[in-house]
Amino acid sequence: MSTELGATEMSKGMGSKPLTAIVLAAGQGTRMRSSVPKALHDLCGRPLVCWPAQAALDAGADRVVVVDSPARALRGALPAGVEVVVQEQATGTGGAVRAAADLVDPGALVLVCAGDVPLVSAAVIGDLIAAHSRTGASATVLSTVLADPSGYGRVVRDPDGMVARIVETKGGGDATAQELAIAEINSGVYVFDGAALLEVLPQLSADNTQGELYLTDAFAHMRAAGAAVGALVTEETGVALGVNDRAQLADVRALAQRNINCGHMRAGVTIVDPVSTYIDVDVVIGEDTTIEPGTRLCGSTVVGSGATIGPQTTVIDSQVGNGASVRMAWLQEATVLAGAKVGPFAYLRPGTVLHEDAKAGTFVEIKNSDIGRGARVPHLSYIGDADVGEGANLGAATVTANYDGRAKHRTKIGKRVRSGVDTTFVAPMTVGDDAYTGAGSVLTEDIPAGALAVARARQVNVEGYAQRHADDAGADPQAATTPPAR
Ligand code: UD1
Ligand code: CA
Repeated sequence: MSTELGATEMSKGMGSKPLTAIVLAAGQGTRMRSSVPKALHDLCGRPLVCWPAQAALDAGADRVVVVDSPARALRGALPAGVEVVVQEQATGTGGAVRAAADLVDPGALVLVCAGDVPLVSAAVIGDLIAAHSRTGASATVLSTVLADPSGYGRVVRDPDGMVARIVETKGGGDATAQELAIAEINSGVYVFDGAALLEVLPQLSADNTQGELYLTDAFAHMRAAGAAVGALVTEETGVALGVNDRAQLADVRALAQRNINCGHMRAGVTIVDPVSTYIDVDVVIGEDTTIEPGTRLCGSTVVGSGATIGPQTTVIDSQVGNGASVRMAWLQEATVLAGAKVGPFAYLRPGTVLHEDAKAGTFVEIKNSDIGRGARVPHLSYIGDADVGEGANLGAATVTANYDGRAKHRTKIGKRVRSGVDTTFVAPMTVGDDAYTGAGSVLTEDIPAGALAVARARQVNVEGYAQRHADDAGADPQAATTPPAR
């Protein structure tokens, strides 16, 4: 819900002009106190700067340009098709837009977004462009009213309600006490007519408390030249929130996560406790899946329908099929196919494929292995670099010894193999279909199909041992305080 204030109504056809978006991300981000550029800090699985860039793309921008610092750290992180220009020195937001001026077509509309205002949405950008086009202003600012406006530039209006200028409040000197009392803030998102923007950029000066070129000075210059400046006041305050430090990042994250979780719930996903559920922005989840508390679904994870994930589960860049269940587990770059069961307390590492109806149970770690349809690894096992045939059952504490200290080797286990508890397969090795292994075996040679392999010392029972031990000590065996040596 938004209302327009302060610009002359003048009907102008919408959508007729091309839209260029400029995303400002060359600032130093000093308030983050970080060796990582602010623009690359993560927000729900997407770097901060990619949020406004994606919103601009989603809003139909023909061209999206990100202003980067000379370190050029951003290029690899940006969505396909986004261009980069470099602002050689961080001289302020006005300097950042100047760095992109060569790419501004006077006949285009120019959307300028601060790179640290991540929740700006395609919808609100659409509203802003519509308002701008309707009113015929040279520039239109997205503003909102905040209970605590501190740190933001304030929108100063004429007595008749028109936007007169924006006053900066950082550094303590540019705003009067009266201006500091204004609750309407500048979001850092604007639409300009290309020609008007190109005309005003050379007029900006660094004559202010911070010695920076403020883009926000553009509006007073436009008004002085007789042009109209409009504002779209959004009631969705979240879309206007900026991230200058990590506390603000956490506030914005909470909002972003709530939006993401609501989207999934409305699309048919049960999220038992949304507050303790963290789902990255690109994760896909099918209908009738249930996400239990304490669960994180990260990166490019895709979950099918009717699955159960959690409680207390982390899934990173993995696939979970329809009807699968993953409880108290950690999955990274793993594939769990339909009906498979994971956990509680399982760790599936990169390259694990659990085929349909297979199981990786409790205290089980699997890496770079293919576990066949219906195969089971139920308890206390490590399976690495292995292929396990369908229907196999690996007994408790089955281990593949895949590493000889220098290289990794594969273990191939056939269909329907039954390993006894505490079996070690020393790779490389191949186990034929339907083979068995004896409990406690350390197996170093291939096992033919259908065979039973046993590799352990035979048991010896030393009769009367306890009595002999007691006689040697001159004591009653029942009263022995120290156990006999073996
Ligand atoms: C800016 C606005 C303020 C607004 C607020 C909204 C100005 C002068 N002030 O203040 O009115 O309320 O955003 O969040 O514009 N940047 C560059 N190059 C630079 C400096 C900054 O690219 O030389 C980029 C930053 O990386 C950042 C954005 O511009 O993404 C905004 O800069 P920042 O310093 O955070 O401005 P604010 O003080 O938040
Ligand atoms: Ca900022």
